[in-house]
Amino acid sequence: MTRVLGIETSCDETAASVVTRDASGKPQIISNIVLSQIEEHVAFGGVVPEIAARAHVTALDGVIRAALDEAGMKPADVDAVAATAGPGLIGGLIVGLTTAKAFAAALGKPLIPINHLEGHALTPRLTDKVAFPYLLLLVSGGHSQIVEVRGVGDYRRWATTIDDALGEAFDKTAKLLSLPYPGGPNVEKAAKTGDPKRFSFPRPLKGEARPDFSFSGLKTAVRRTATELAPLSPQDVSHICASFQAAVTESLTDRVARSLTRFREEHSGVTTPTLVVAGGVAANLTIRAALDATAQEAGFQLVAPPLQLCGDNAAMIAWAGLERLEAGLAEEAPMNFRPRPRW
Ligand code: KG4
Ligand code: ZN
Repeated sequence: MTRVLGIETSCDETAASVVTRDASGKPQIISNIVLSQIEEHVAFGGVVPEIAARAHVTALDGVIRAALDEAGMKPADVDAVAATAGPGLIGGLIVGLTTAKAFAAALGKPLIPINHLEGHALTPRLTDKVAFPYLLLLVSGGHSQIVEVRGVGDYRRWATTIDDALGEAFDKTAKLLSLPYPGGPNVEKAAKTGDPKRFSFPRPLKGEARPDFSFSGLKTAVRRTATELAPLSPQDVSHICASFQAAVTESLTDRVARSLTRFREEHSGVTTPTLVVAGGVAANLTIRAALDATAQEAGFQLVAPPLQLCGDNAAMIAWAGLERLEAGLAEEAPMNFRPRPRW
């Protein structure tokens, strides 16, 4: 069985993983190491690229060793090396891709540069054997997109954000409210004890024909409310978080519903179509529940990867590498392949 080592260093997680298929062909994650740099960035309220790059340099060799150890493998047992080549922070990408090149060159194994977004896009096939075609909602710190996933390497973007990404909106709202980085999970936590109807924030683009997202107007509304109420009590913060979360959720599901209709029209032969939600924001349980209801209403099944595979990890990169190998799309990666920060 082909065993692919995956490496992910595009943002603030240093990660390595080995993925294969078992004897029956079922995808198998044999090891999955994720070292978060949160501690190193928390004092700055966000990811500092230079600190991230240095931390990847320090950590990556050990993380790869840990992934091989956990898999009970020696370096020579690896059949191919997949690494995130973009999009992401250039320093981290250089560290991960250069390490992958060295590993592949030293052992004479294929190098497979992976687009980080493809990693998120193919994760549901690793965890839930989802068949092509399906509709992907990718909501992370850097991206908010709806993508028609037709096959390995065959993706059509149907919708994107016209300003901030959804995770970015969570992170900026958290910062406004002096909640610690990373913002998303802390906003979700604070929202639990707040009233989602306390403030009526806008539902950007709701009801509009274009399929895209917009989240920056919300941030402005949150800032206005926070300024009016200052100084904020913990209860104010909870109410703002709950109301913000309700607003983004309603805007998001309205936008998604549009693409579900389109998918139905274009793929009328698919009996139970699938909506996949991936990316860091997919960890948000309120958003998941709302998407589930929206999907069901439209006759779709919702597939959401387990929480630890929603955020950045290397299992998704190794898996994308394995899918590319199996599809014959991993032959030609040259050793001079360059990182693509804006891929
Ligand atoms: O996919 P990811 O780990 O990294 C990127 O590729 O961006 O996504 C990170 C983003 C951050 O903006 C973070 O605040 C957000 O996902 N996030 C959440 C939650 N957990 C992570 N947003 C809302 N609710 C959460 N529970
Ligand atoms: Zn990501």
